[in-house]
Amino acid sequence: MFDSLPVLPPDSILGLAAACRADPNPDKVDLTVGVYMDETGLCPVFEAVQQAQQALVSEEQTKVYMPPQGDPDYLTGVRSLIFGEAGMAALGDRTSAVQTPGGCGAVRLGAEVLHAAAPGATVWVSDPTWPVHIPLMGSVGLQFKTYRYYSPEMKGLDFEAMLADLEAAQAGDVVLLHGCCHNPSGVDPTLEQWGVLAELMSERQLLPMIDFAYQGMGAGLDEDAAGIRAVLERVPEMIIAVSSSKNIGLYRERAGAVVFVGGDARAAEAMASQAVSAARRVYSMPPAHGALLAGRVLSSPALRSAWEAELGQICQRINDLRGQLRDALTTATERDFGFIGTEHGMFSFLGLSVEQAQRLREEQSVYMLDSSRINIAGLNANNLGRVVEAVASVL
Ligand code: LMR
Repeated sequence: MFDSLPVLPPDSILGLAAACRADPNPDKVDLTVGVYMDETGLCPVFEAVQQAQQALVSEEQTKVYMPPQGDPDYLTGVRSLIFGEAGMAALGDRTSAVQTPGGCGAVRLGAEVLHAAAPGATVWVSDPTWPVHIPLMGSVGLQFKTYRYYSPEMKGLDFEAMLADLEAAQAGDVVLLHGCCHNPSGVDPTLEQWGVLAELMSERQLLPMIDFAYQGMGAGLDEDAAGIRAVLERVPEMIIAVSSSKNIGLYRERAGAVVFVGGDARAAEAMASQAVSAARRVYSMPPAHGALLAGRVLSSPALRSAWEAELGQICQRINDLRGQLRDALTTATERDFGFIGTEHGMFSFLGLSVEQAQRLREEQSVYMLDSSRINIAGLNANNLGRVVEAVASVL
C-alpha cells in the first residue's frame, strides 16, 4: 500500500530548525522557529511555572482523563487575560472556551466550529500569514482568500490595500487576524486601525477569528489585547485561538484554548459543544500537564504576579534587542533598518531575497526562513554582531 507513497519535504519552519541542529559549526545561529531564548541561548522555564510544577507533582493523585472542555482555572485565566476582568464581567455568559493541544489545536477547533455553522464559509487571511494557517484550517473544508497586509516596499502595513481587499468580503465571511505580534512580519495595526477594521467587520457582517499566540510579548498583556477589545466593542461574535506556548513558556506541553464569544449564552454554549465534539472525533481529551500548570499560575495571585513580572522582562528584552539590531544593521549596511524598532513580538523580515537567506545558511550558518523572517528572540550579546556582519556581507 505504501510502496509509492511520496516522502514529503520537511516543514518550511521546523525543517530549517532541524537543519540548524544538524549543522556542526559551533558558531551557528538559529533564528528560525519562534521560541524565546535568554542571553545564554536557553529557552527558560518561567519561575512561576517551576513553582506550580513542584506543587502539582506533590499534590497530584491521579492521571485520569481531563474533562473534555478542559481545566476550568486555565479557561477562566486565559479569558481574563484576553478580555480583562471588566470585559469578562461585561460579556457574562456570552463567552465559552475549550482547552486545546496548543494554539494549533485552537485554530483547528475554531475552524471546525466555523465549518459546522457555515460549511461554505470563506476565510480571509493576511498576505503573508503563518504558513500553517491554511493547511490547518483548510483541512476542515473551509475556503480562503487573501487580503494584502505587509508591503515589502513600505516595510510595514499597507492598510489602504488591506481595507480595499476586505471591502470585497461578503456577509458571513471570516477574517483571520493576528491579535498582536503578526507572524511573520511583526507588523500590527495601530489601535486606531483596529477601530476602523472593527467598523468594517461590523458594517459588512464579517466574523473576526483572532490568532492570539503572543499576548504579552509585544508591548504588554493589556496593550497586546487592546485590538481584540476594540473589535469586541463593535462586533458581537468572535473566535480567539490562544496559545500558552510563548507567553507561559509551555511549548512542548501543548497548552492552548479556543475562546468563543457568541451573541447570547446559547450561542456560546453551542460553539463550545461543537468544539468538544470535534475534539472527540480527532483526539478525544486535551492533554493535562501544561494547562494544569498554567491554570495554577493564572489563578494564584502570587504566581500570577511573578509570571507577569517575568513576562514583562522578556517583552522588554525583546524590544531592547530590536533596538540593538536596528542600530547595528543600519550602521553596518548604511541602509535604513528603522522598521525593526517599530515592529512587535518575535518576528521581523530583514528584506533579503530567498537566495540571500539561503547563502546565509549555507555559507555562514546563520539560519532564518527563506522569507528572511528572523526570530528576534534568538539573538543575544554573543551572536548579534555575527548576525549583523553576515547580513551585511550578503547585501
Ligand atoms: C513559528 O512560527 O515559528 C512558531 O509559530 C512555531 C511553529 O509552530 O511554526
